[in-house]
Amino acid sequence: MPIPEQFLEELNARTDIVDIVSNYVTLTKKGNRYWGLCPFHSEKTPSFSVSPDRQMYYCFGCHKGGGAVQFTMELEGVSFPDAVGILAQRVGLQVPETKGDSDSRKRRERLYQLNRDTARWYHENLVQPEARHALNYFTDRGLSRRTITNFGLGYAWDEWDGLIKEMGKRGYTKQELLDAGLVVKNDKGRIYDRFRGRVMFPIIDLRGNVIGFGGRVLDNSTPKYLNSPDTIIFNKSKNLFALNLARKSKQGRIILTEGYMDTIALHQAGFDCAVASLGTSLTEDHARMIAQRTQEVVISYDSDSAGVNAAQRAIQLLNKTGIKVKVLKVTGAKDPDEFIKKYGPAAFQKLIDGSENHVEFRLLQVKNKYDLTADDQKVACIQELANVIARLPGAAEREVYGNRMAVDLGISADTMRREIDRSQKRQLRRGEKQQTRRVLQPVQMNQPEARALRYDNMRSGKAEEGVISLLMNDPDLLSQTAGLSPEDFTVPLFGRVYEQIWTRWSEGRPVSIHTLGQDLSGEEMNHLVSILQSPISQENREWAMQDYINIIQTESLKGIRRSDVDDGALMAFRDKKHMEDAT
Ligand code: GTP
Ligand code: MN
Repeated sequence: MPIPEQFLEELNARTDIVDIVSNYVTLTKKGNRYWGLCPFHSEKTPSFSVSPDRQMYYCFGCHKGGGAVQFTMELEGVSFPDAVGILAQRVGLQVPETKGDSDSRKRRERLYQLNRDTARWYHENLVQPEARHALNYFTDRGLSRRTITNFGLGYAWDEWDGLIKEMGKRGYTKQELLDAGLVVKNDKGRIYDRFRGRVMFPIIDLRGNVIGFGGRVLDNSTPKYLNSPDTIIFNKSKNLFALNLARKSKQGRIILTEGYMDTIALHQAGFDCAVASLGTSLTEDHARMIAQRTQEVVISYDSDSAGVNAAQRAIQLLNKTGIKVKVLKVTGAKDPDEFIKKYGPAAFQKLIDGSENHVEFRLLQVKNKYDLTADDQKVACIQELANVIARLPGAAEREVYGNRMAVDLGISADTMRREIDRSQKRQLRRGEKQQTRRVLQPVQMNQPEARALRYDNMRSGKAEEGVISLLMNDPDLLSQTAGLSPEDFTVPLFGRVYEQIWTRWSEGRPVSIHTLGQDLSGEEMNHLVSILQSPISQENREWAMQDYINIIQTESLKGIRRSDVDDGALMAFRDKKHMEDAT
């Protein structure tokens, strides 16, 4: 259910994006913009800008942009309605509730409550004499009573309907139990408890709600772990186990593990910044959540080959966020849990202090692939190492690692440097070719939002950018666009935005990214704001508008809908200069 537009407009009027951003970013005024270090990617010189006149932010480095709501969504990792709620509370406004809204909220609330009651019950079971073996399981694995309480660990009786009965008594329906993923329905339509005879790990979100569970068997039977399925309140790819605790840590980093027990053991040993992904591999959402809360992540996965592979993938995702990524080499133990038990917290701290950054990890991986006693393998290894080093952004980094590898492989530093240079030139040449492809990437992805950003006809697309940019700046120019209809636009996003501007303007309502935000995906908003960055000359707006309209209509008449995008035209995709030329 959308939030009423009048309300968004009211909120917009009372909110100053400069205030909002200033809470997180130190801003300095230059000209008619404020500048600061981008909170969404790591940088040393400011490319993040805030325009008070348009109530908009935009980063020229990572191309993220939007209004106060989008900023809050990104930074707090919340949904559009939640971000509106946060901003409204700030200025003392009450978000009006629509019927559908409050129904779905009530349903969610009910599931939170059910999960909380369930977690409490599981936890209470643990102190019953009949659950002695479960409590012993935890204590045998070295967990203290305090840790058990802190994490709210519990036990699910080995019964088919223990939970169904207990929660039934408390007034929860079978449908609610199903919706929460706590019970399962068989082919015959009978329902039974999902978790039976398992020790239980509640999963808690950042607001303190129990959103799901993991349950482990007490012996060697399978499956070893069983997790709640995804539900309307639980999404494995957007939640990390123990992040609710780790976010309060003062240790200045996040330690990422693979397992519940690893994370719990680390917390007990004093590493209160440990989290785990929930039996799935790390996702982009996870990486973003981590990067929003820390500048350094230490990957501490199992030492087996599955763990090493998972670490490789995690490195790639985390590297993209720009935070510092380190990889811990857990030697002499299969996982962090076992390591702590065997060698103690001080040894683990040493591991962290000496932990390889991802470059060292990667280089070691490469070296391990080759048999360095064979000459041909050694040559291949040197080349692959050179490829890895050539990709490092800093000259000093390349020098340091190049020299180190030269020593390791018994060749001269000079030879290594030449190999790195050659590899760099090769990659540069390839990179130039790929640049066009990278711009195209969203188009190739088969997602609705990517399709909305498709530029099938570059000439028309650029003109459409111009029209939208002019209109967002001054909707009264719509009086000139009488002959232009949304269907004339070749970029789906612009067609939609045009239609919305038109509707609002004709109803006498304000046009701003603030009110448009509700209907656009993050990608779309970023792209829209990016095209609004070029300055618009006040004098020739009417002329420019007429030019753009002519182009769009001519192209539309030609019926050009090239499915293959021409590379040359694509190079202009991010080039905003045409706007100034045209205006
Ligand atoms: P233990 O120390 O043996 O209790 O387990 P662990 O926490 O060290 O986990 P392990 O390394 O075996 O697995 C890592 C994570 O993967 C676990 O914490 C679970 O989230 C998940 N996992 C492991 N086994 C299973 C399984 O059989 N099914 C599912 N769905 N997830 C599993
Ligand atoms: Mn383990």
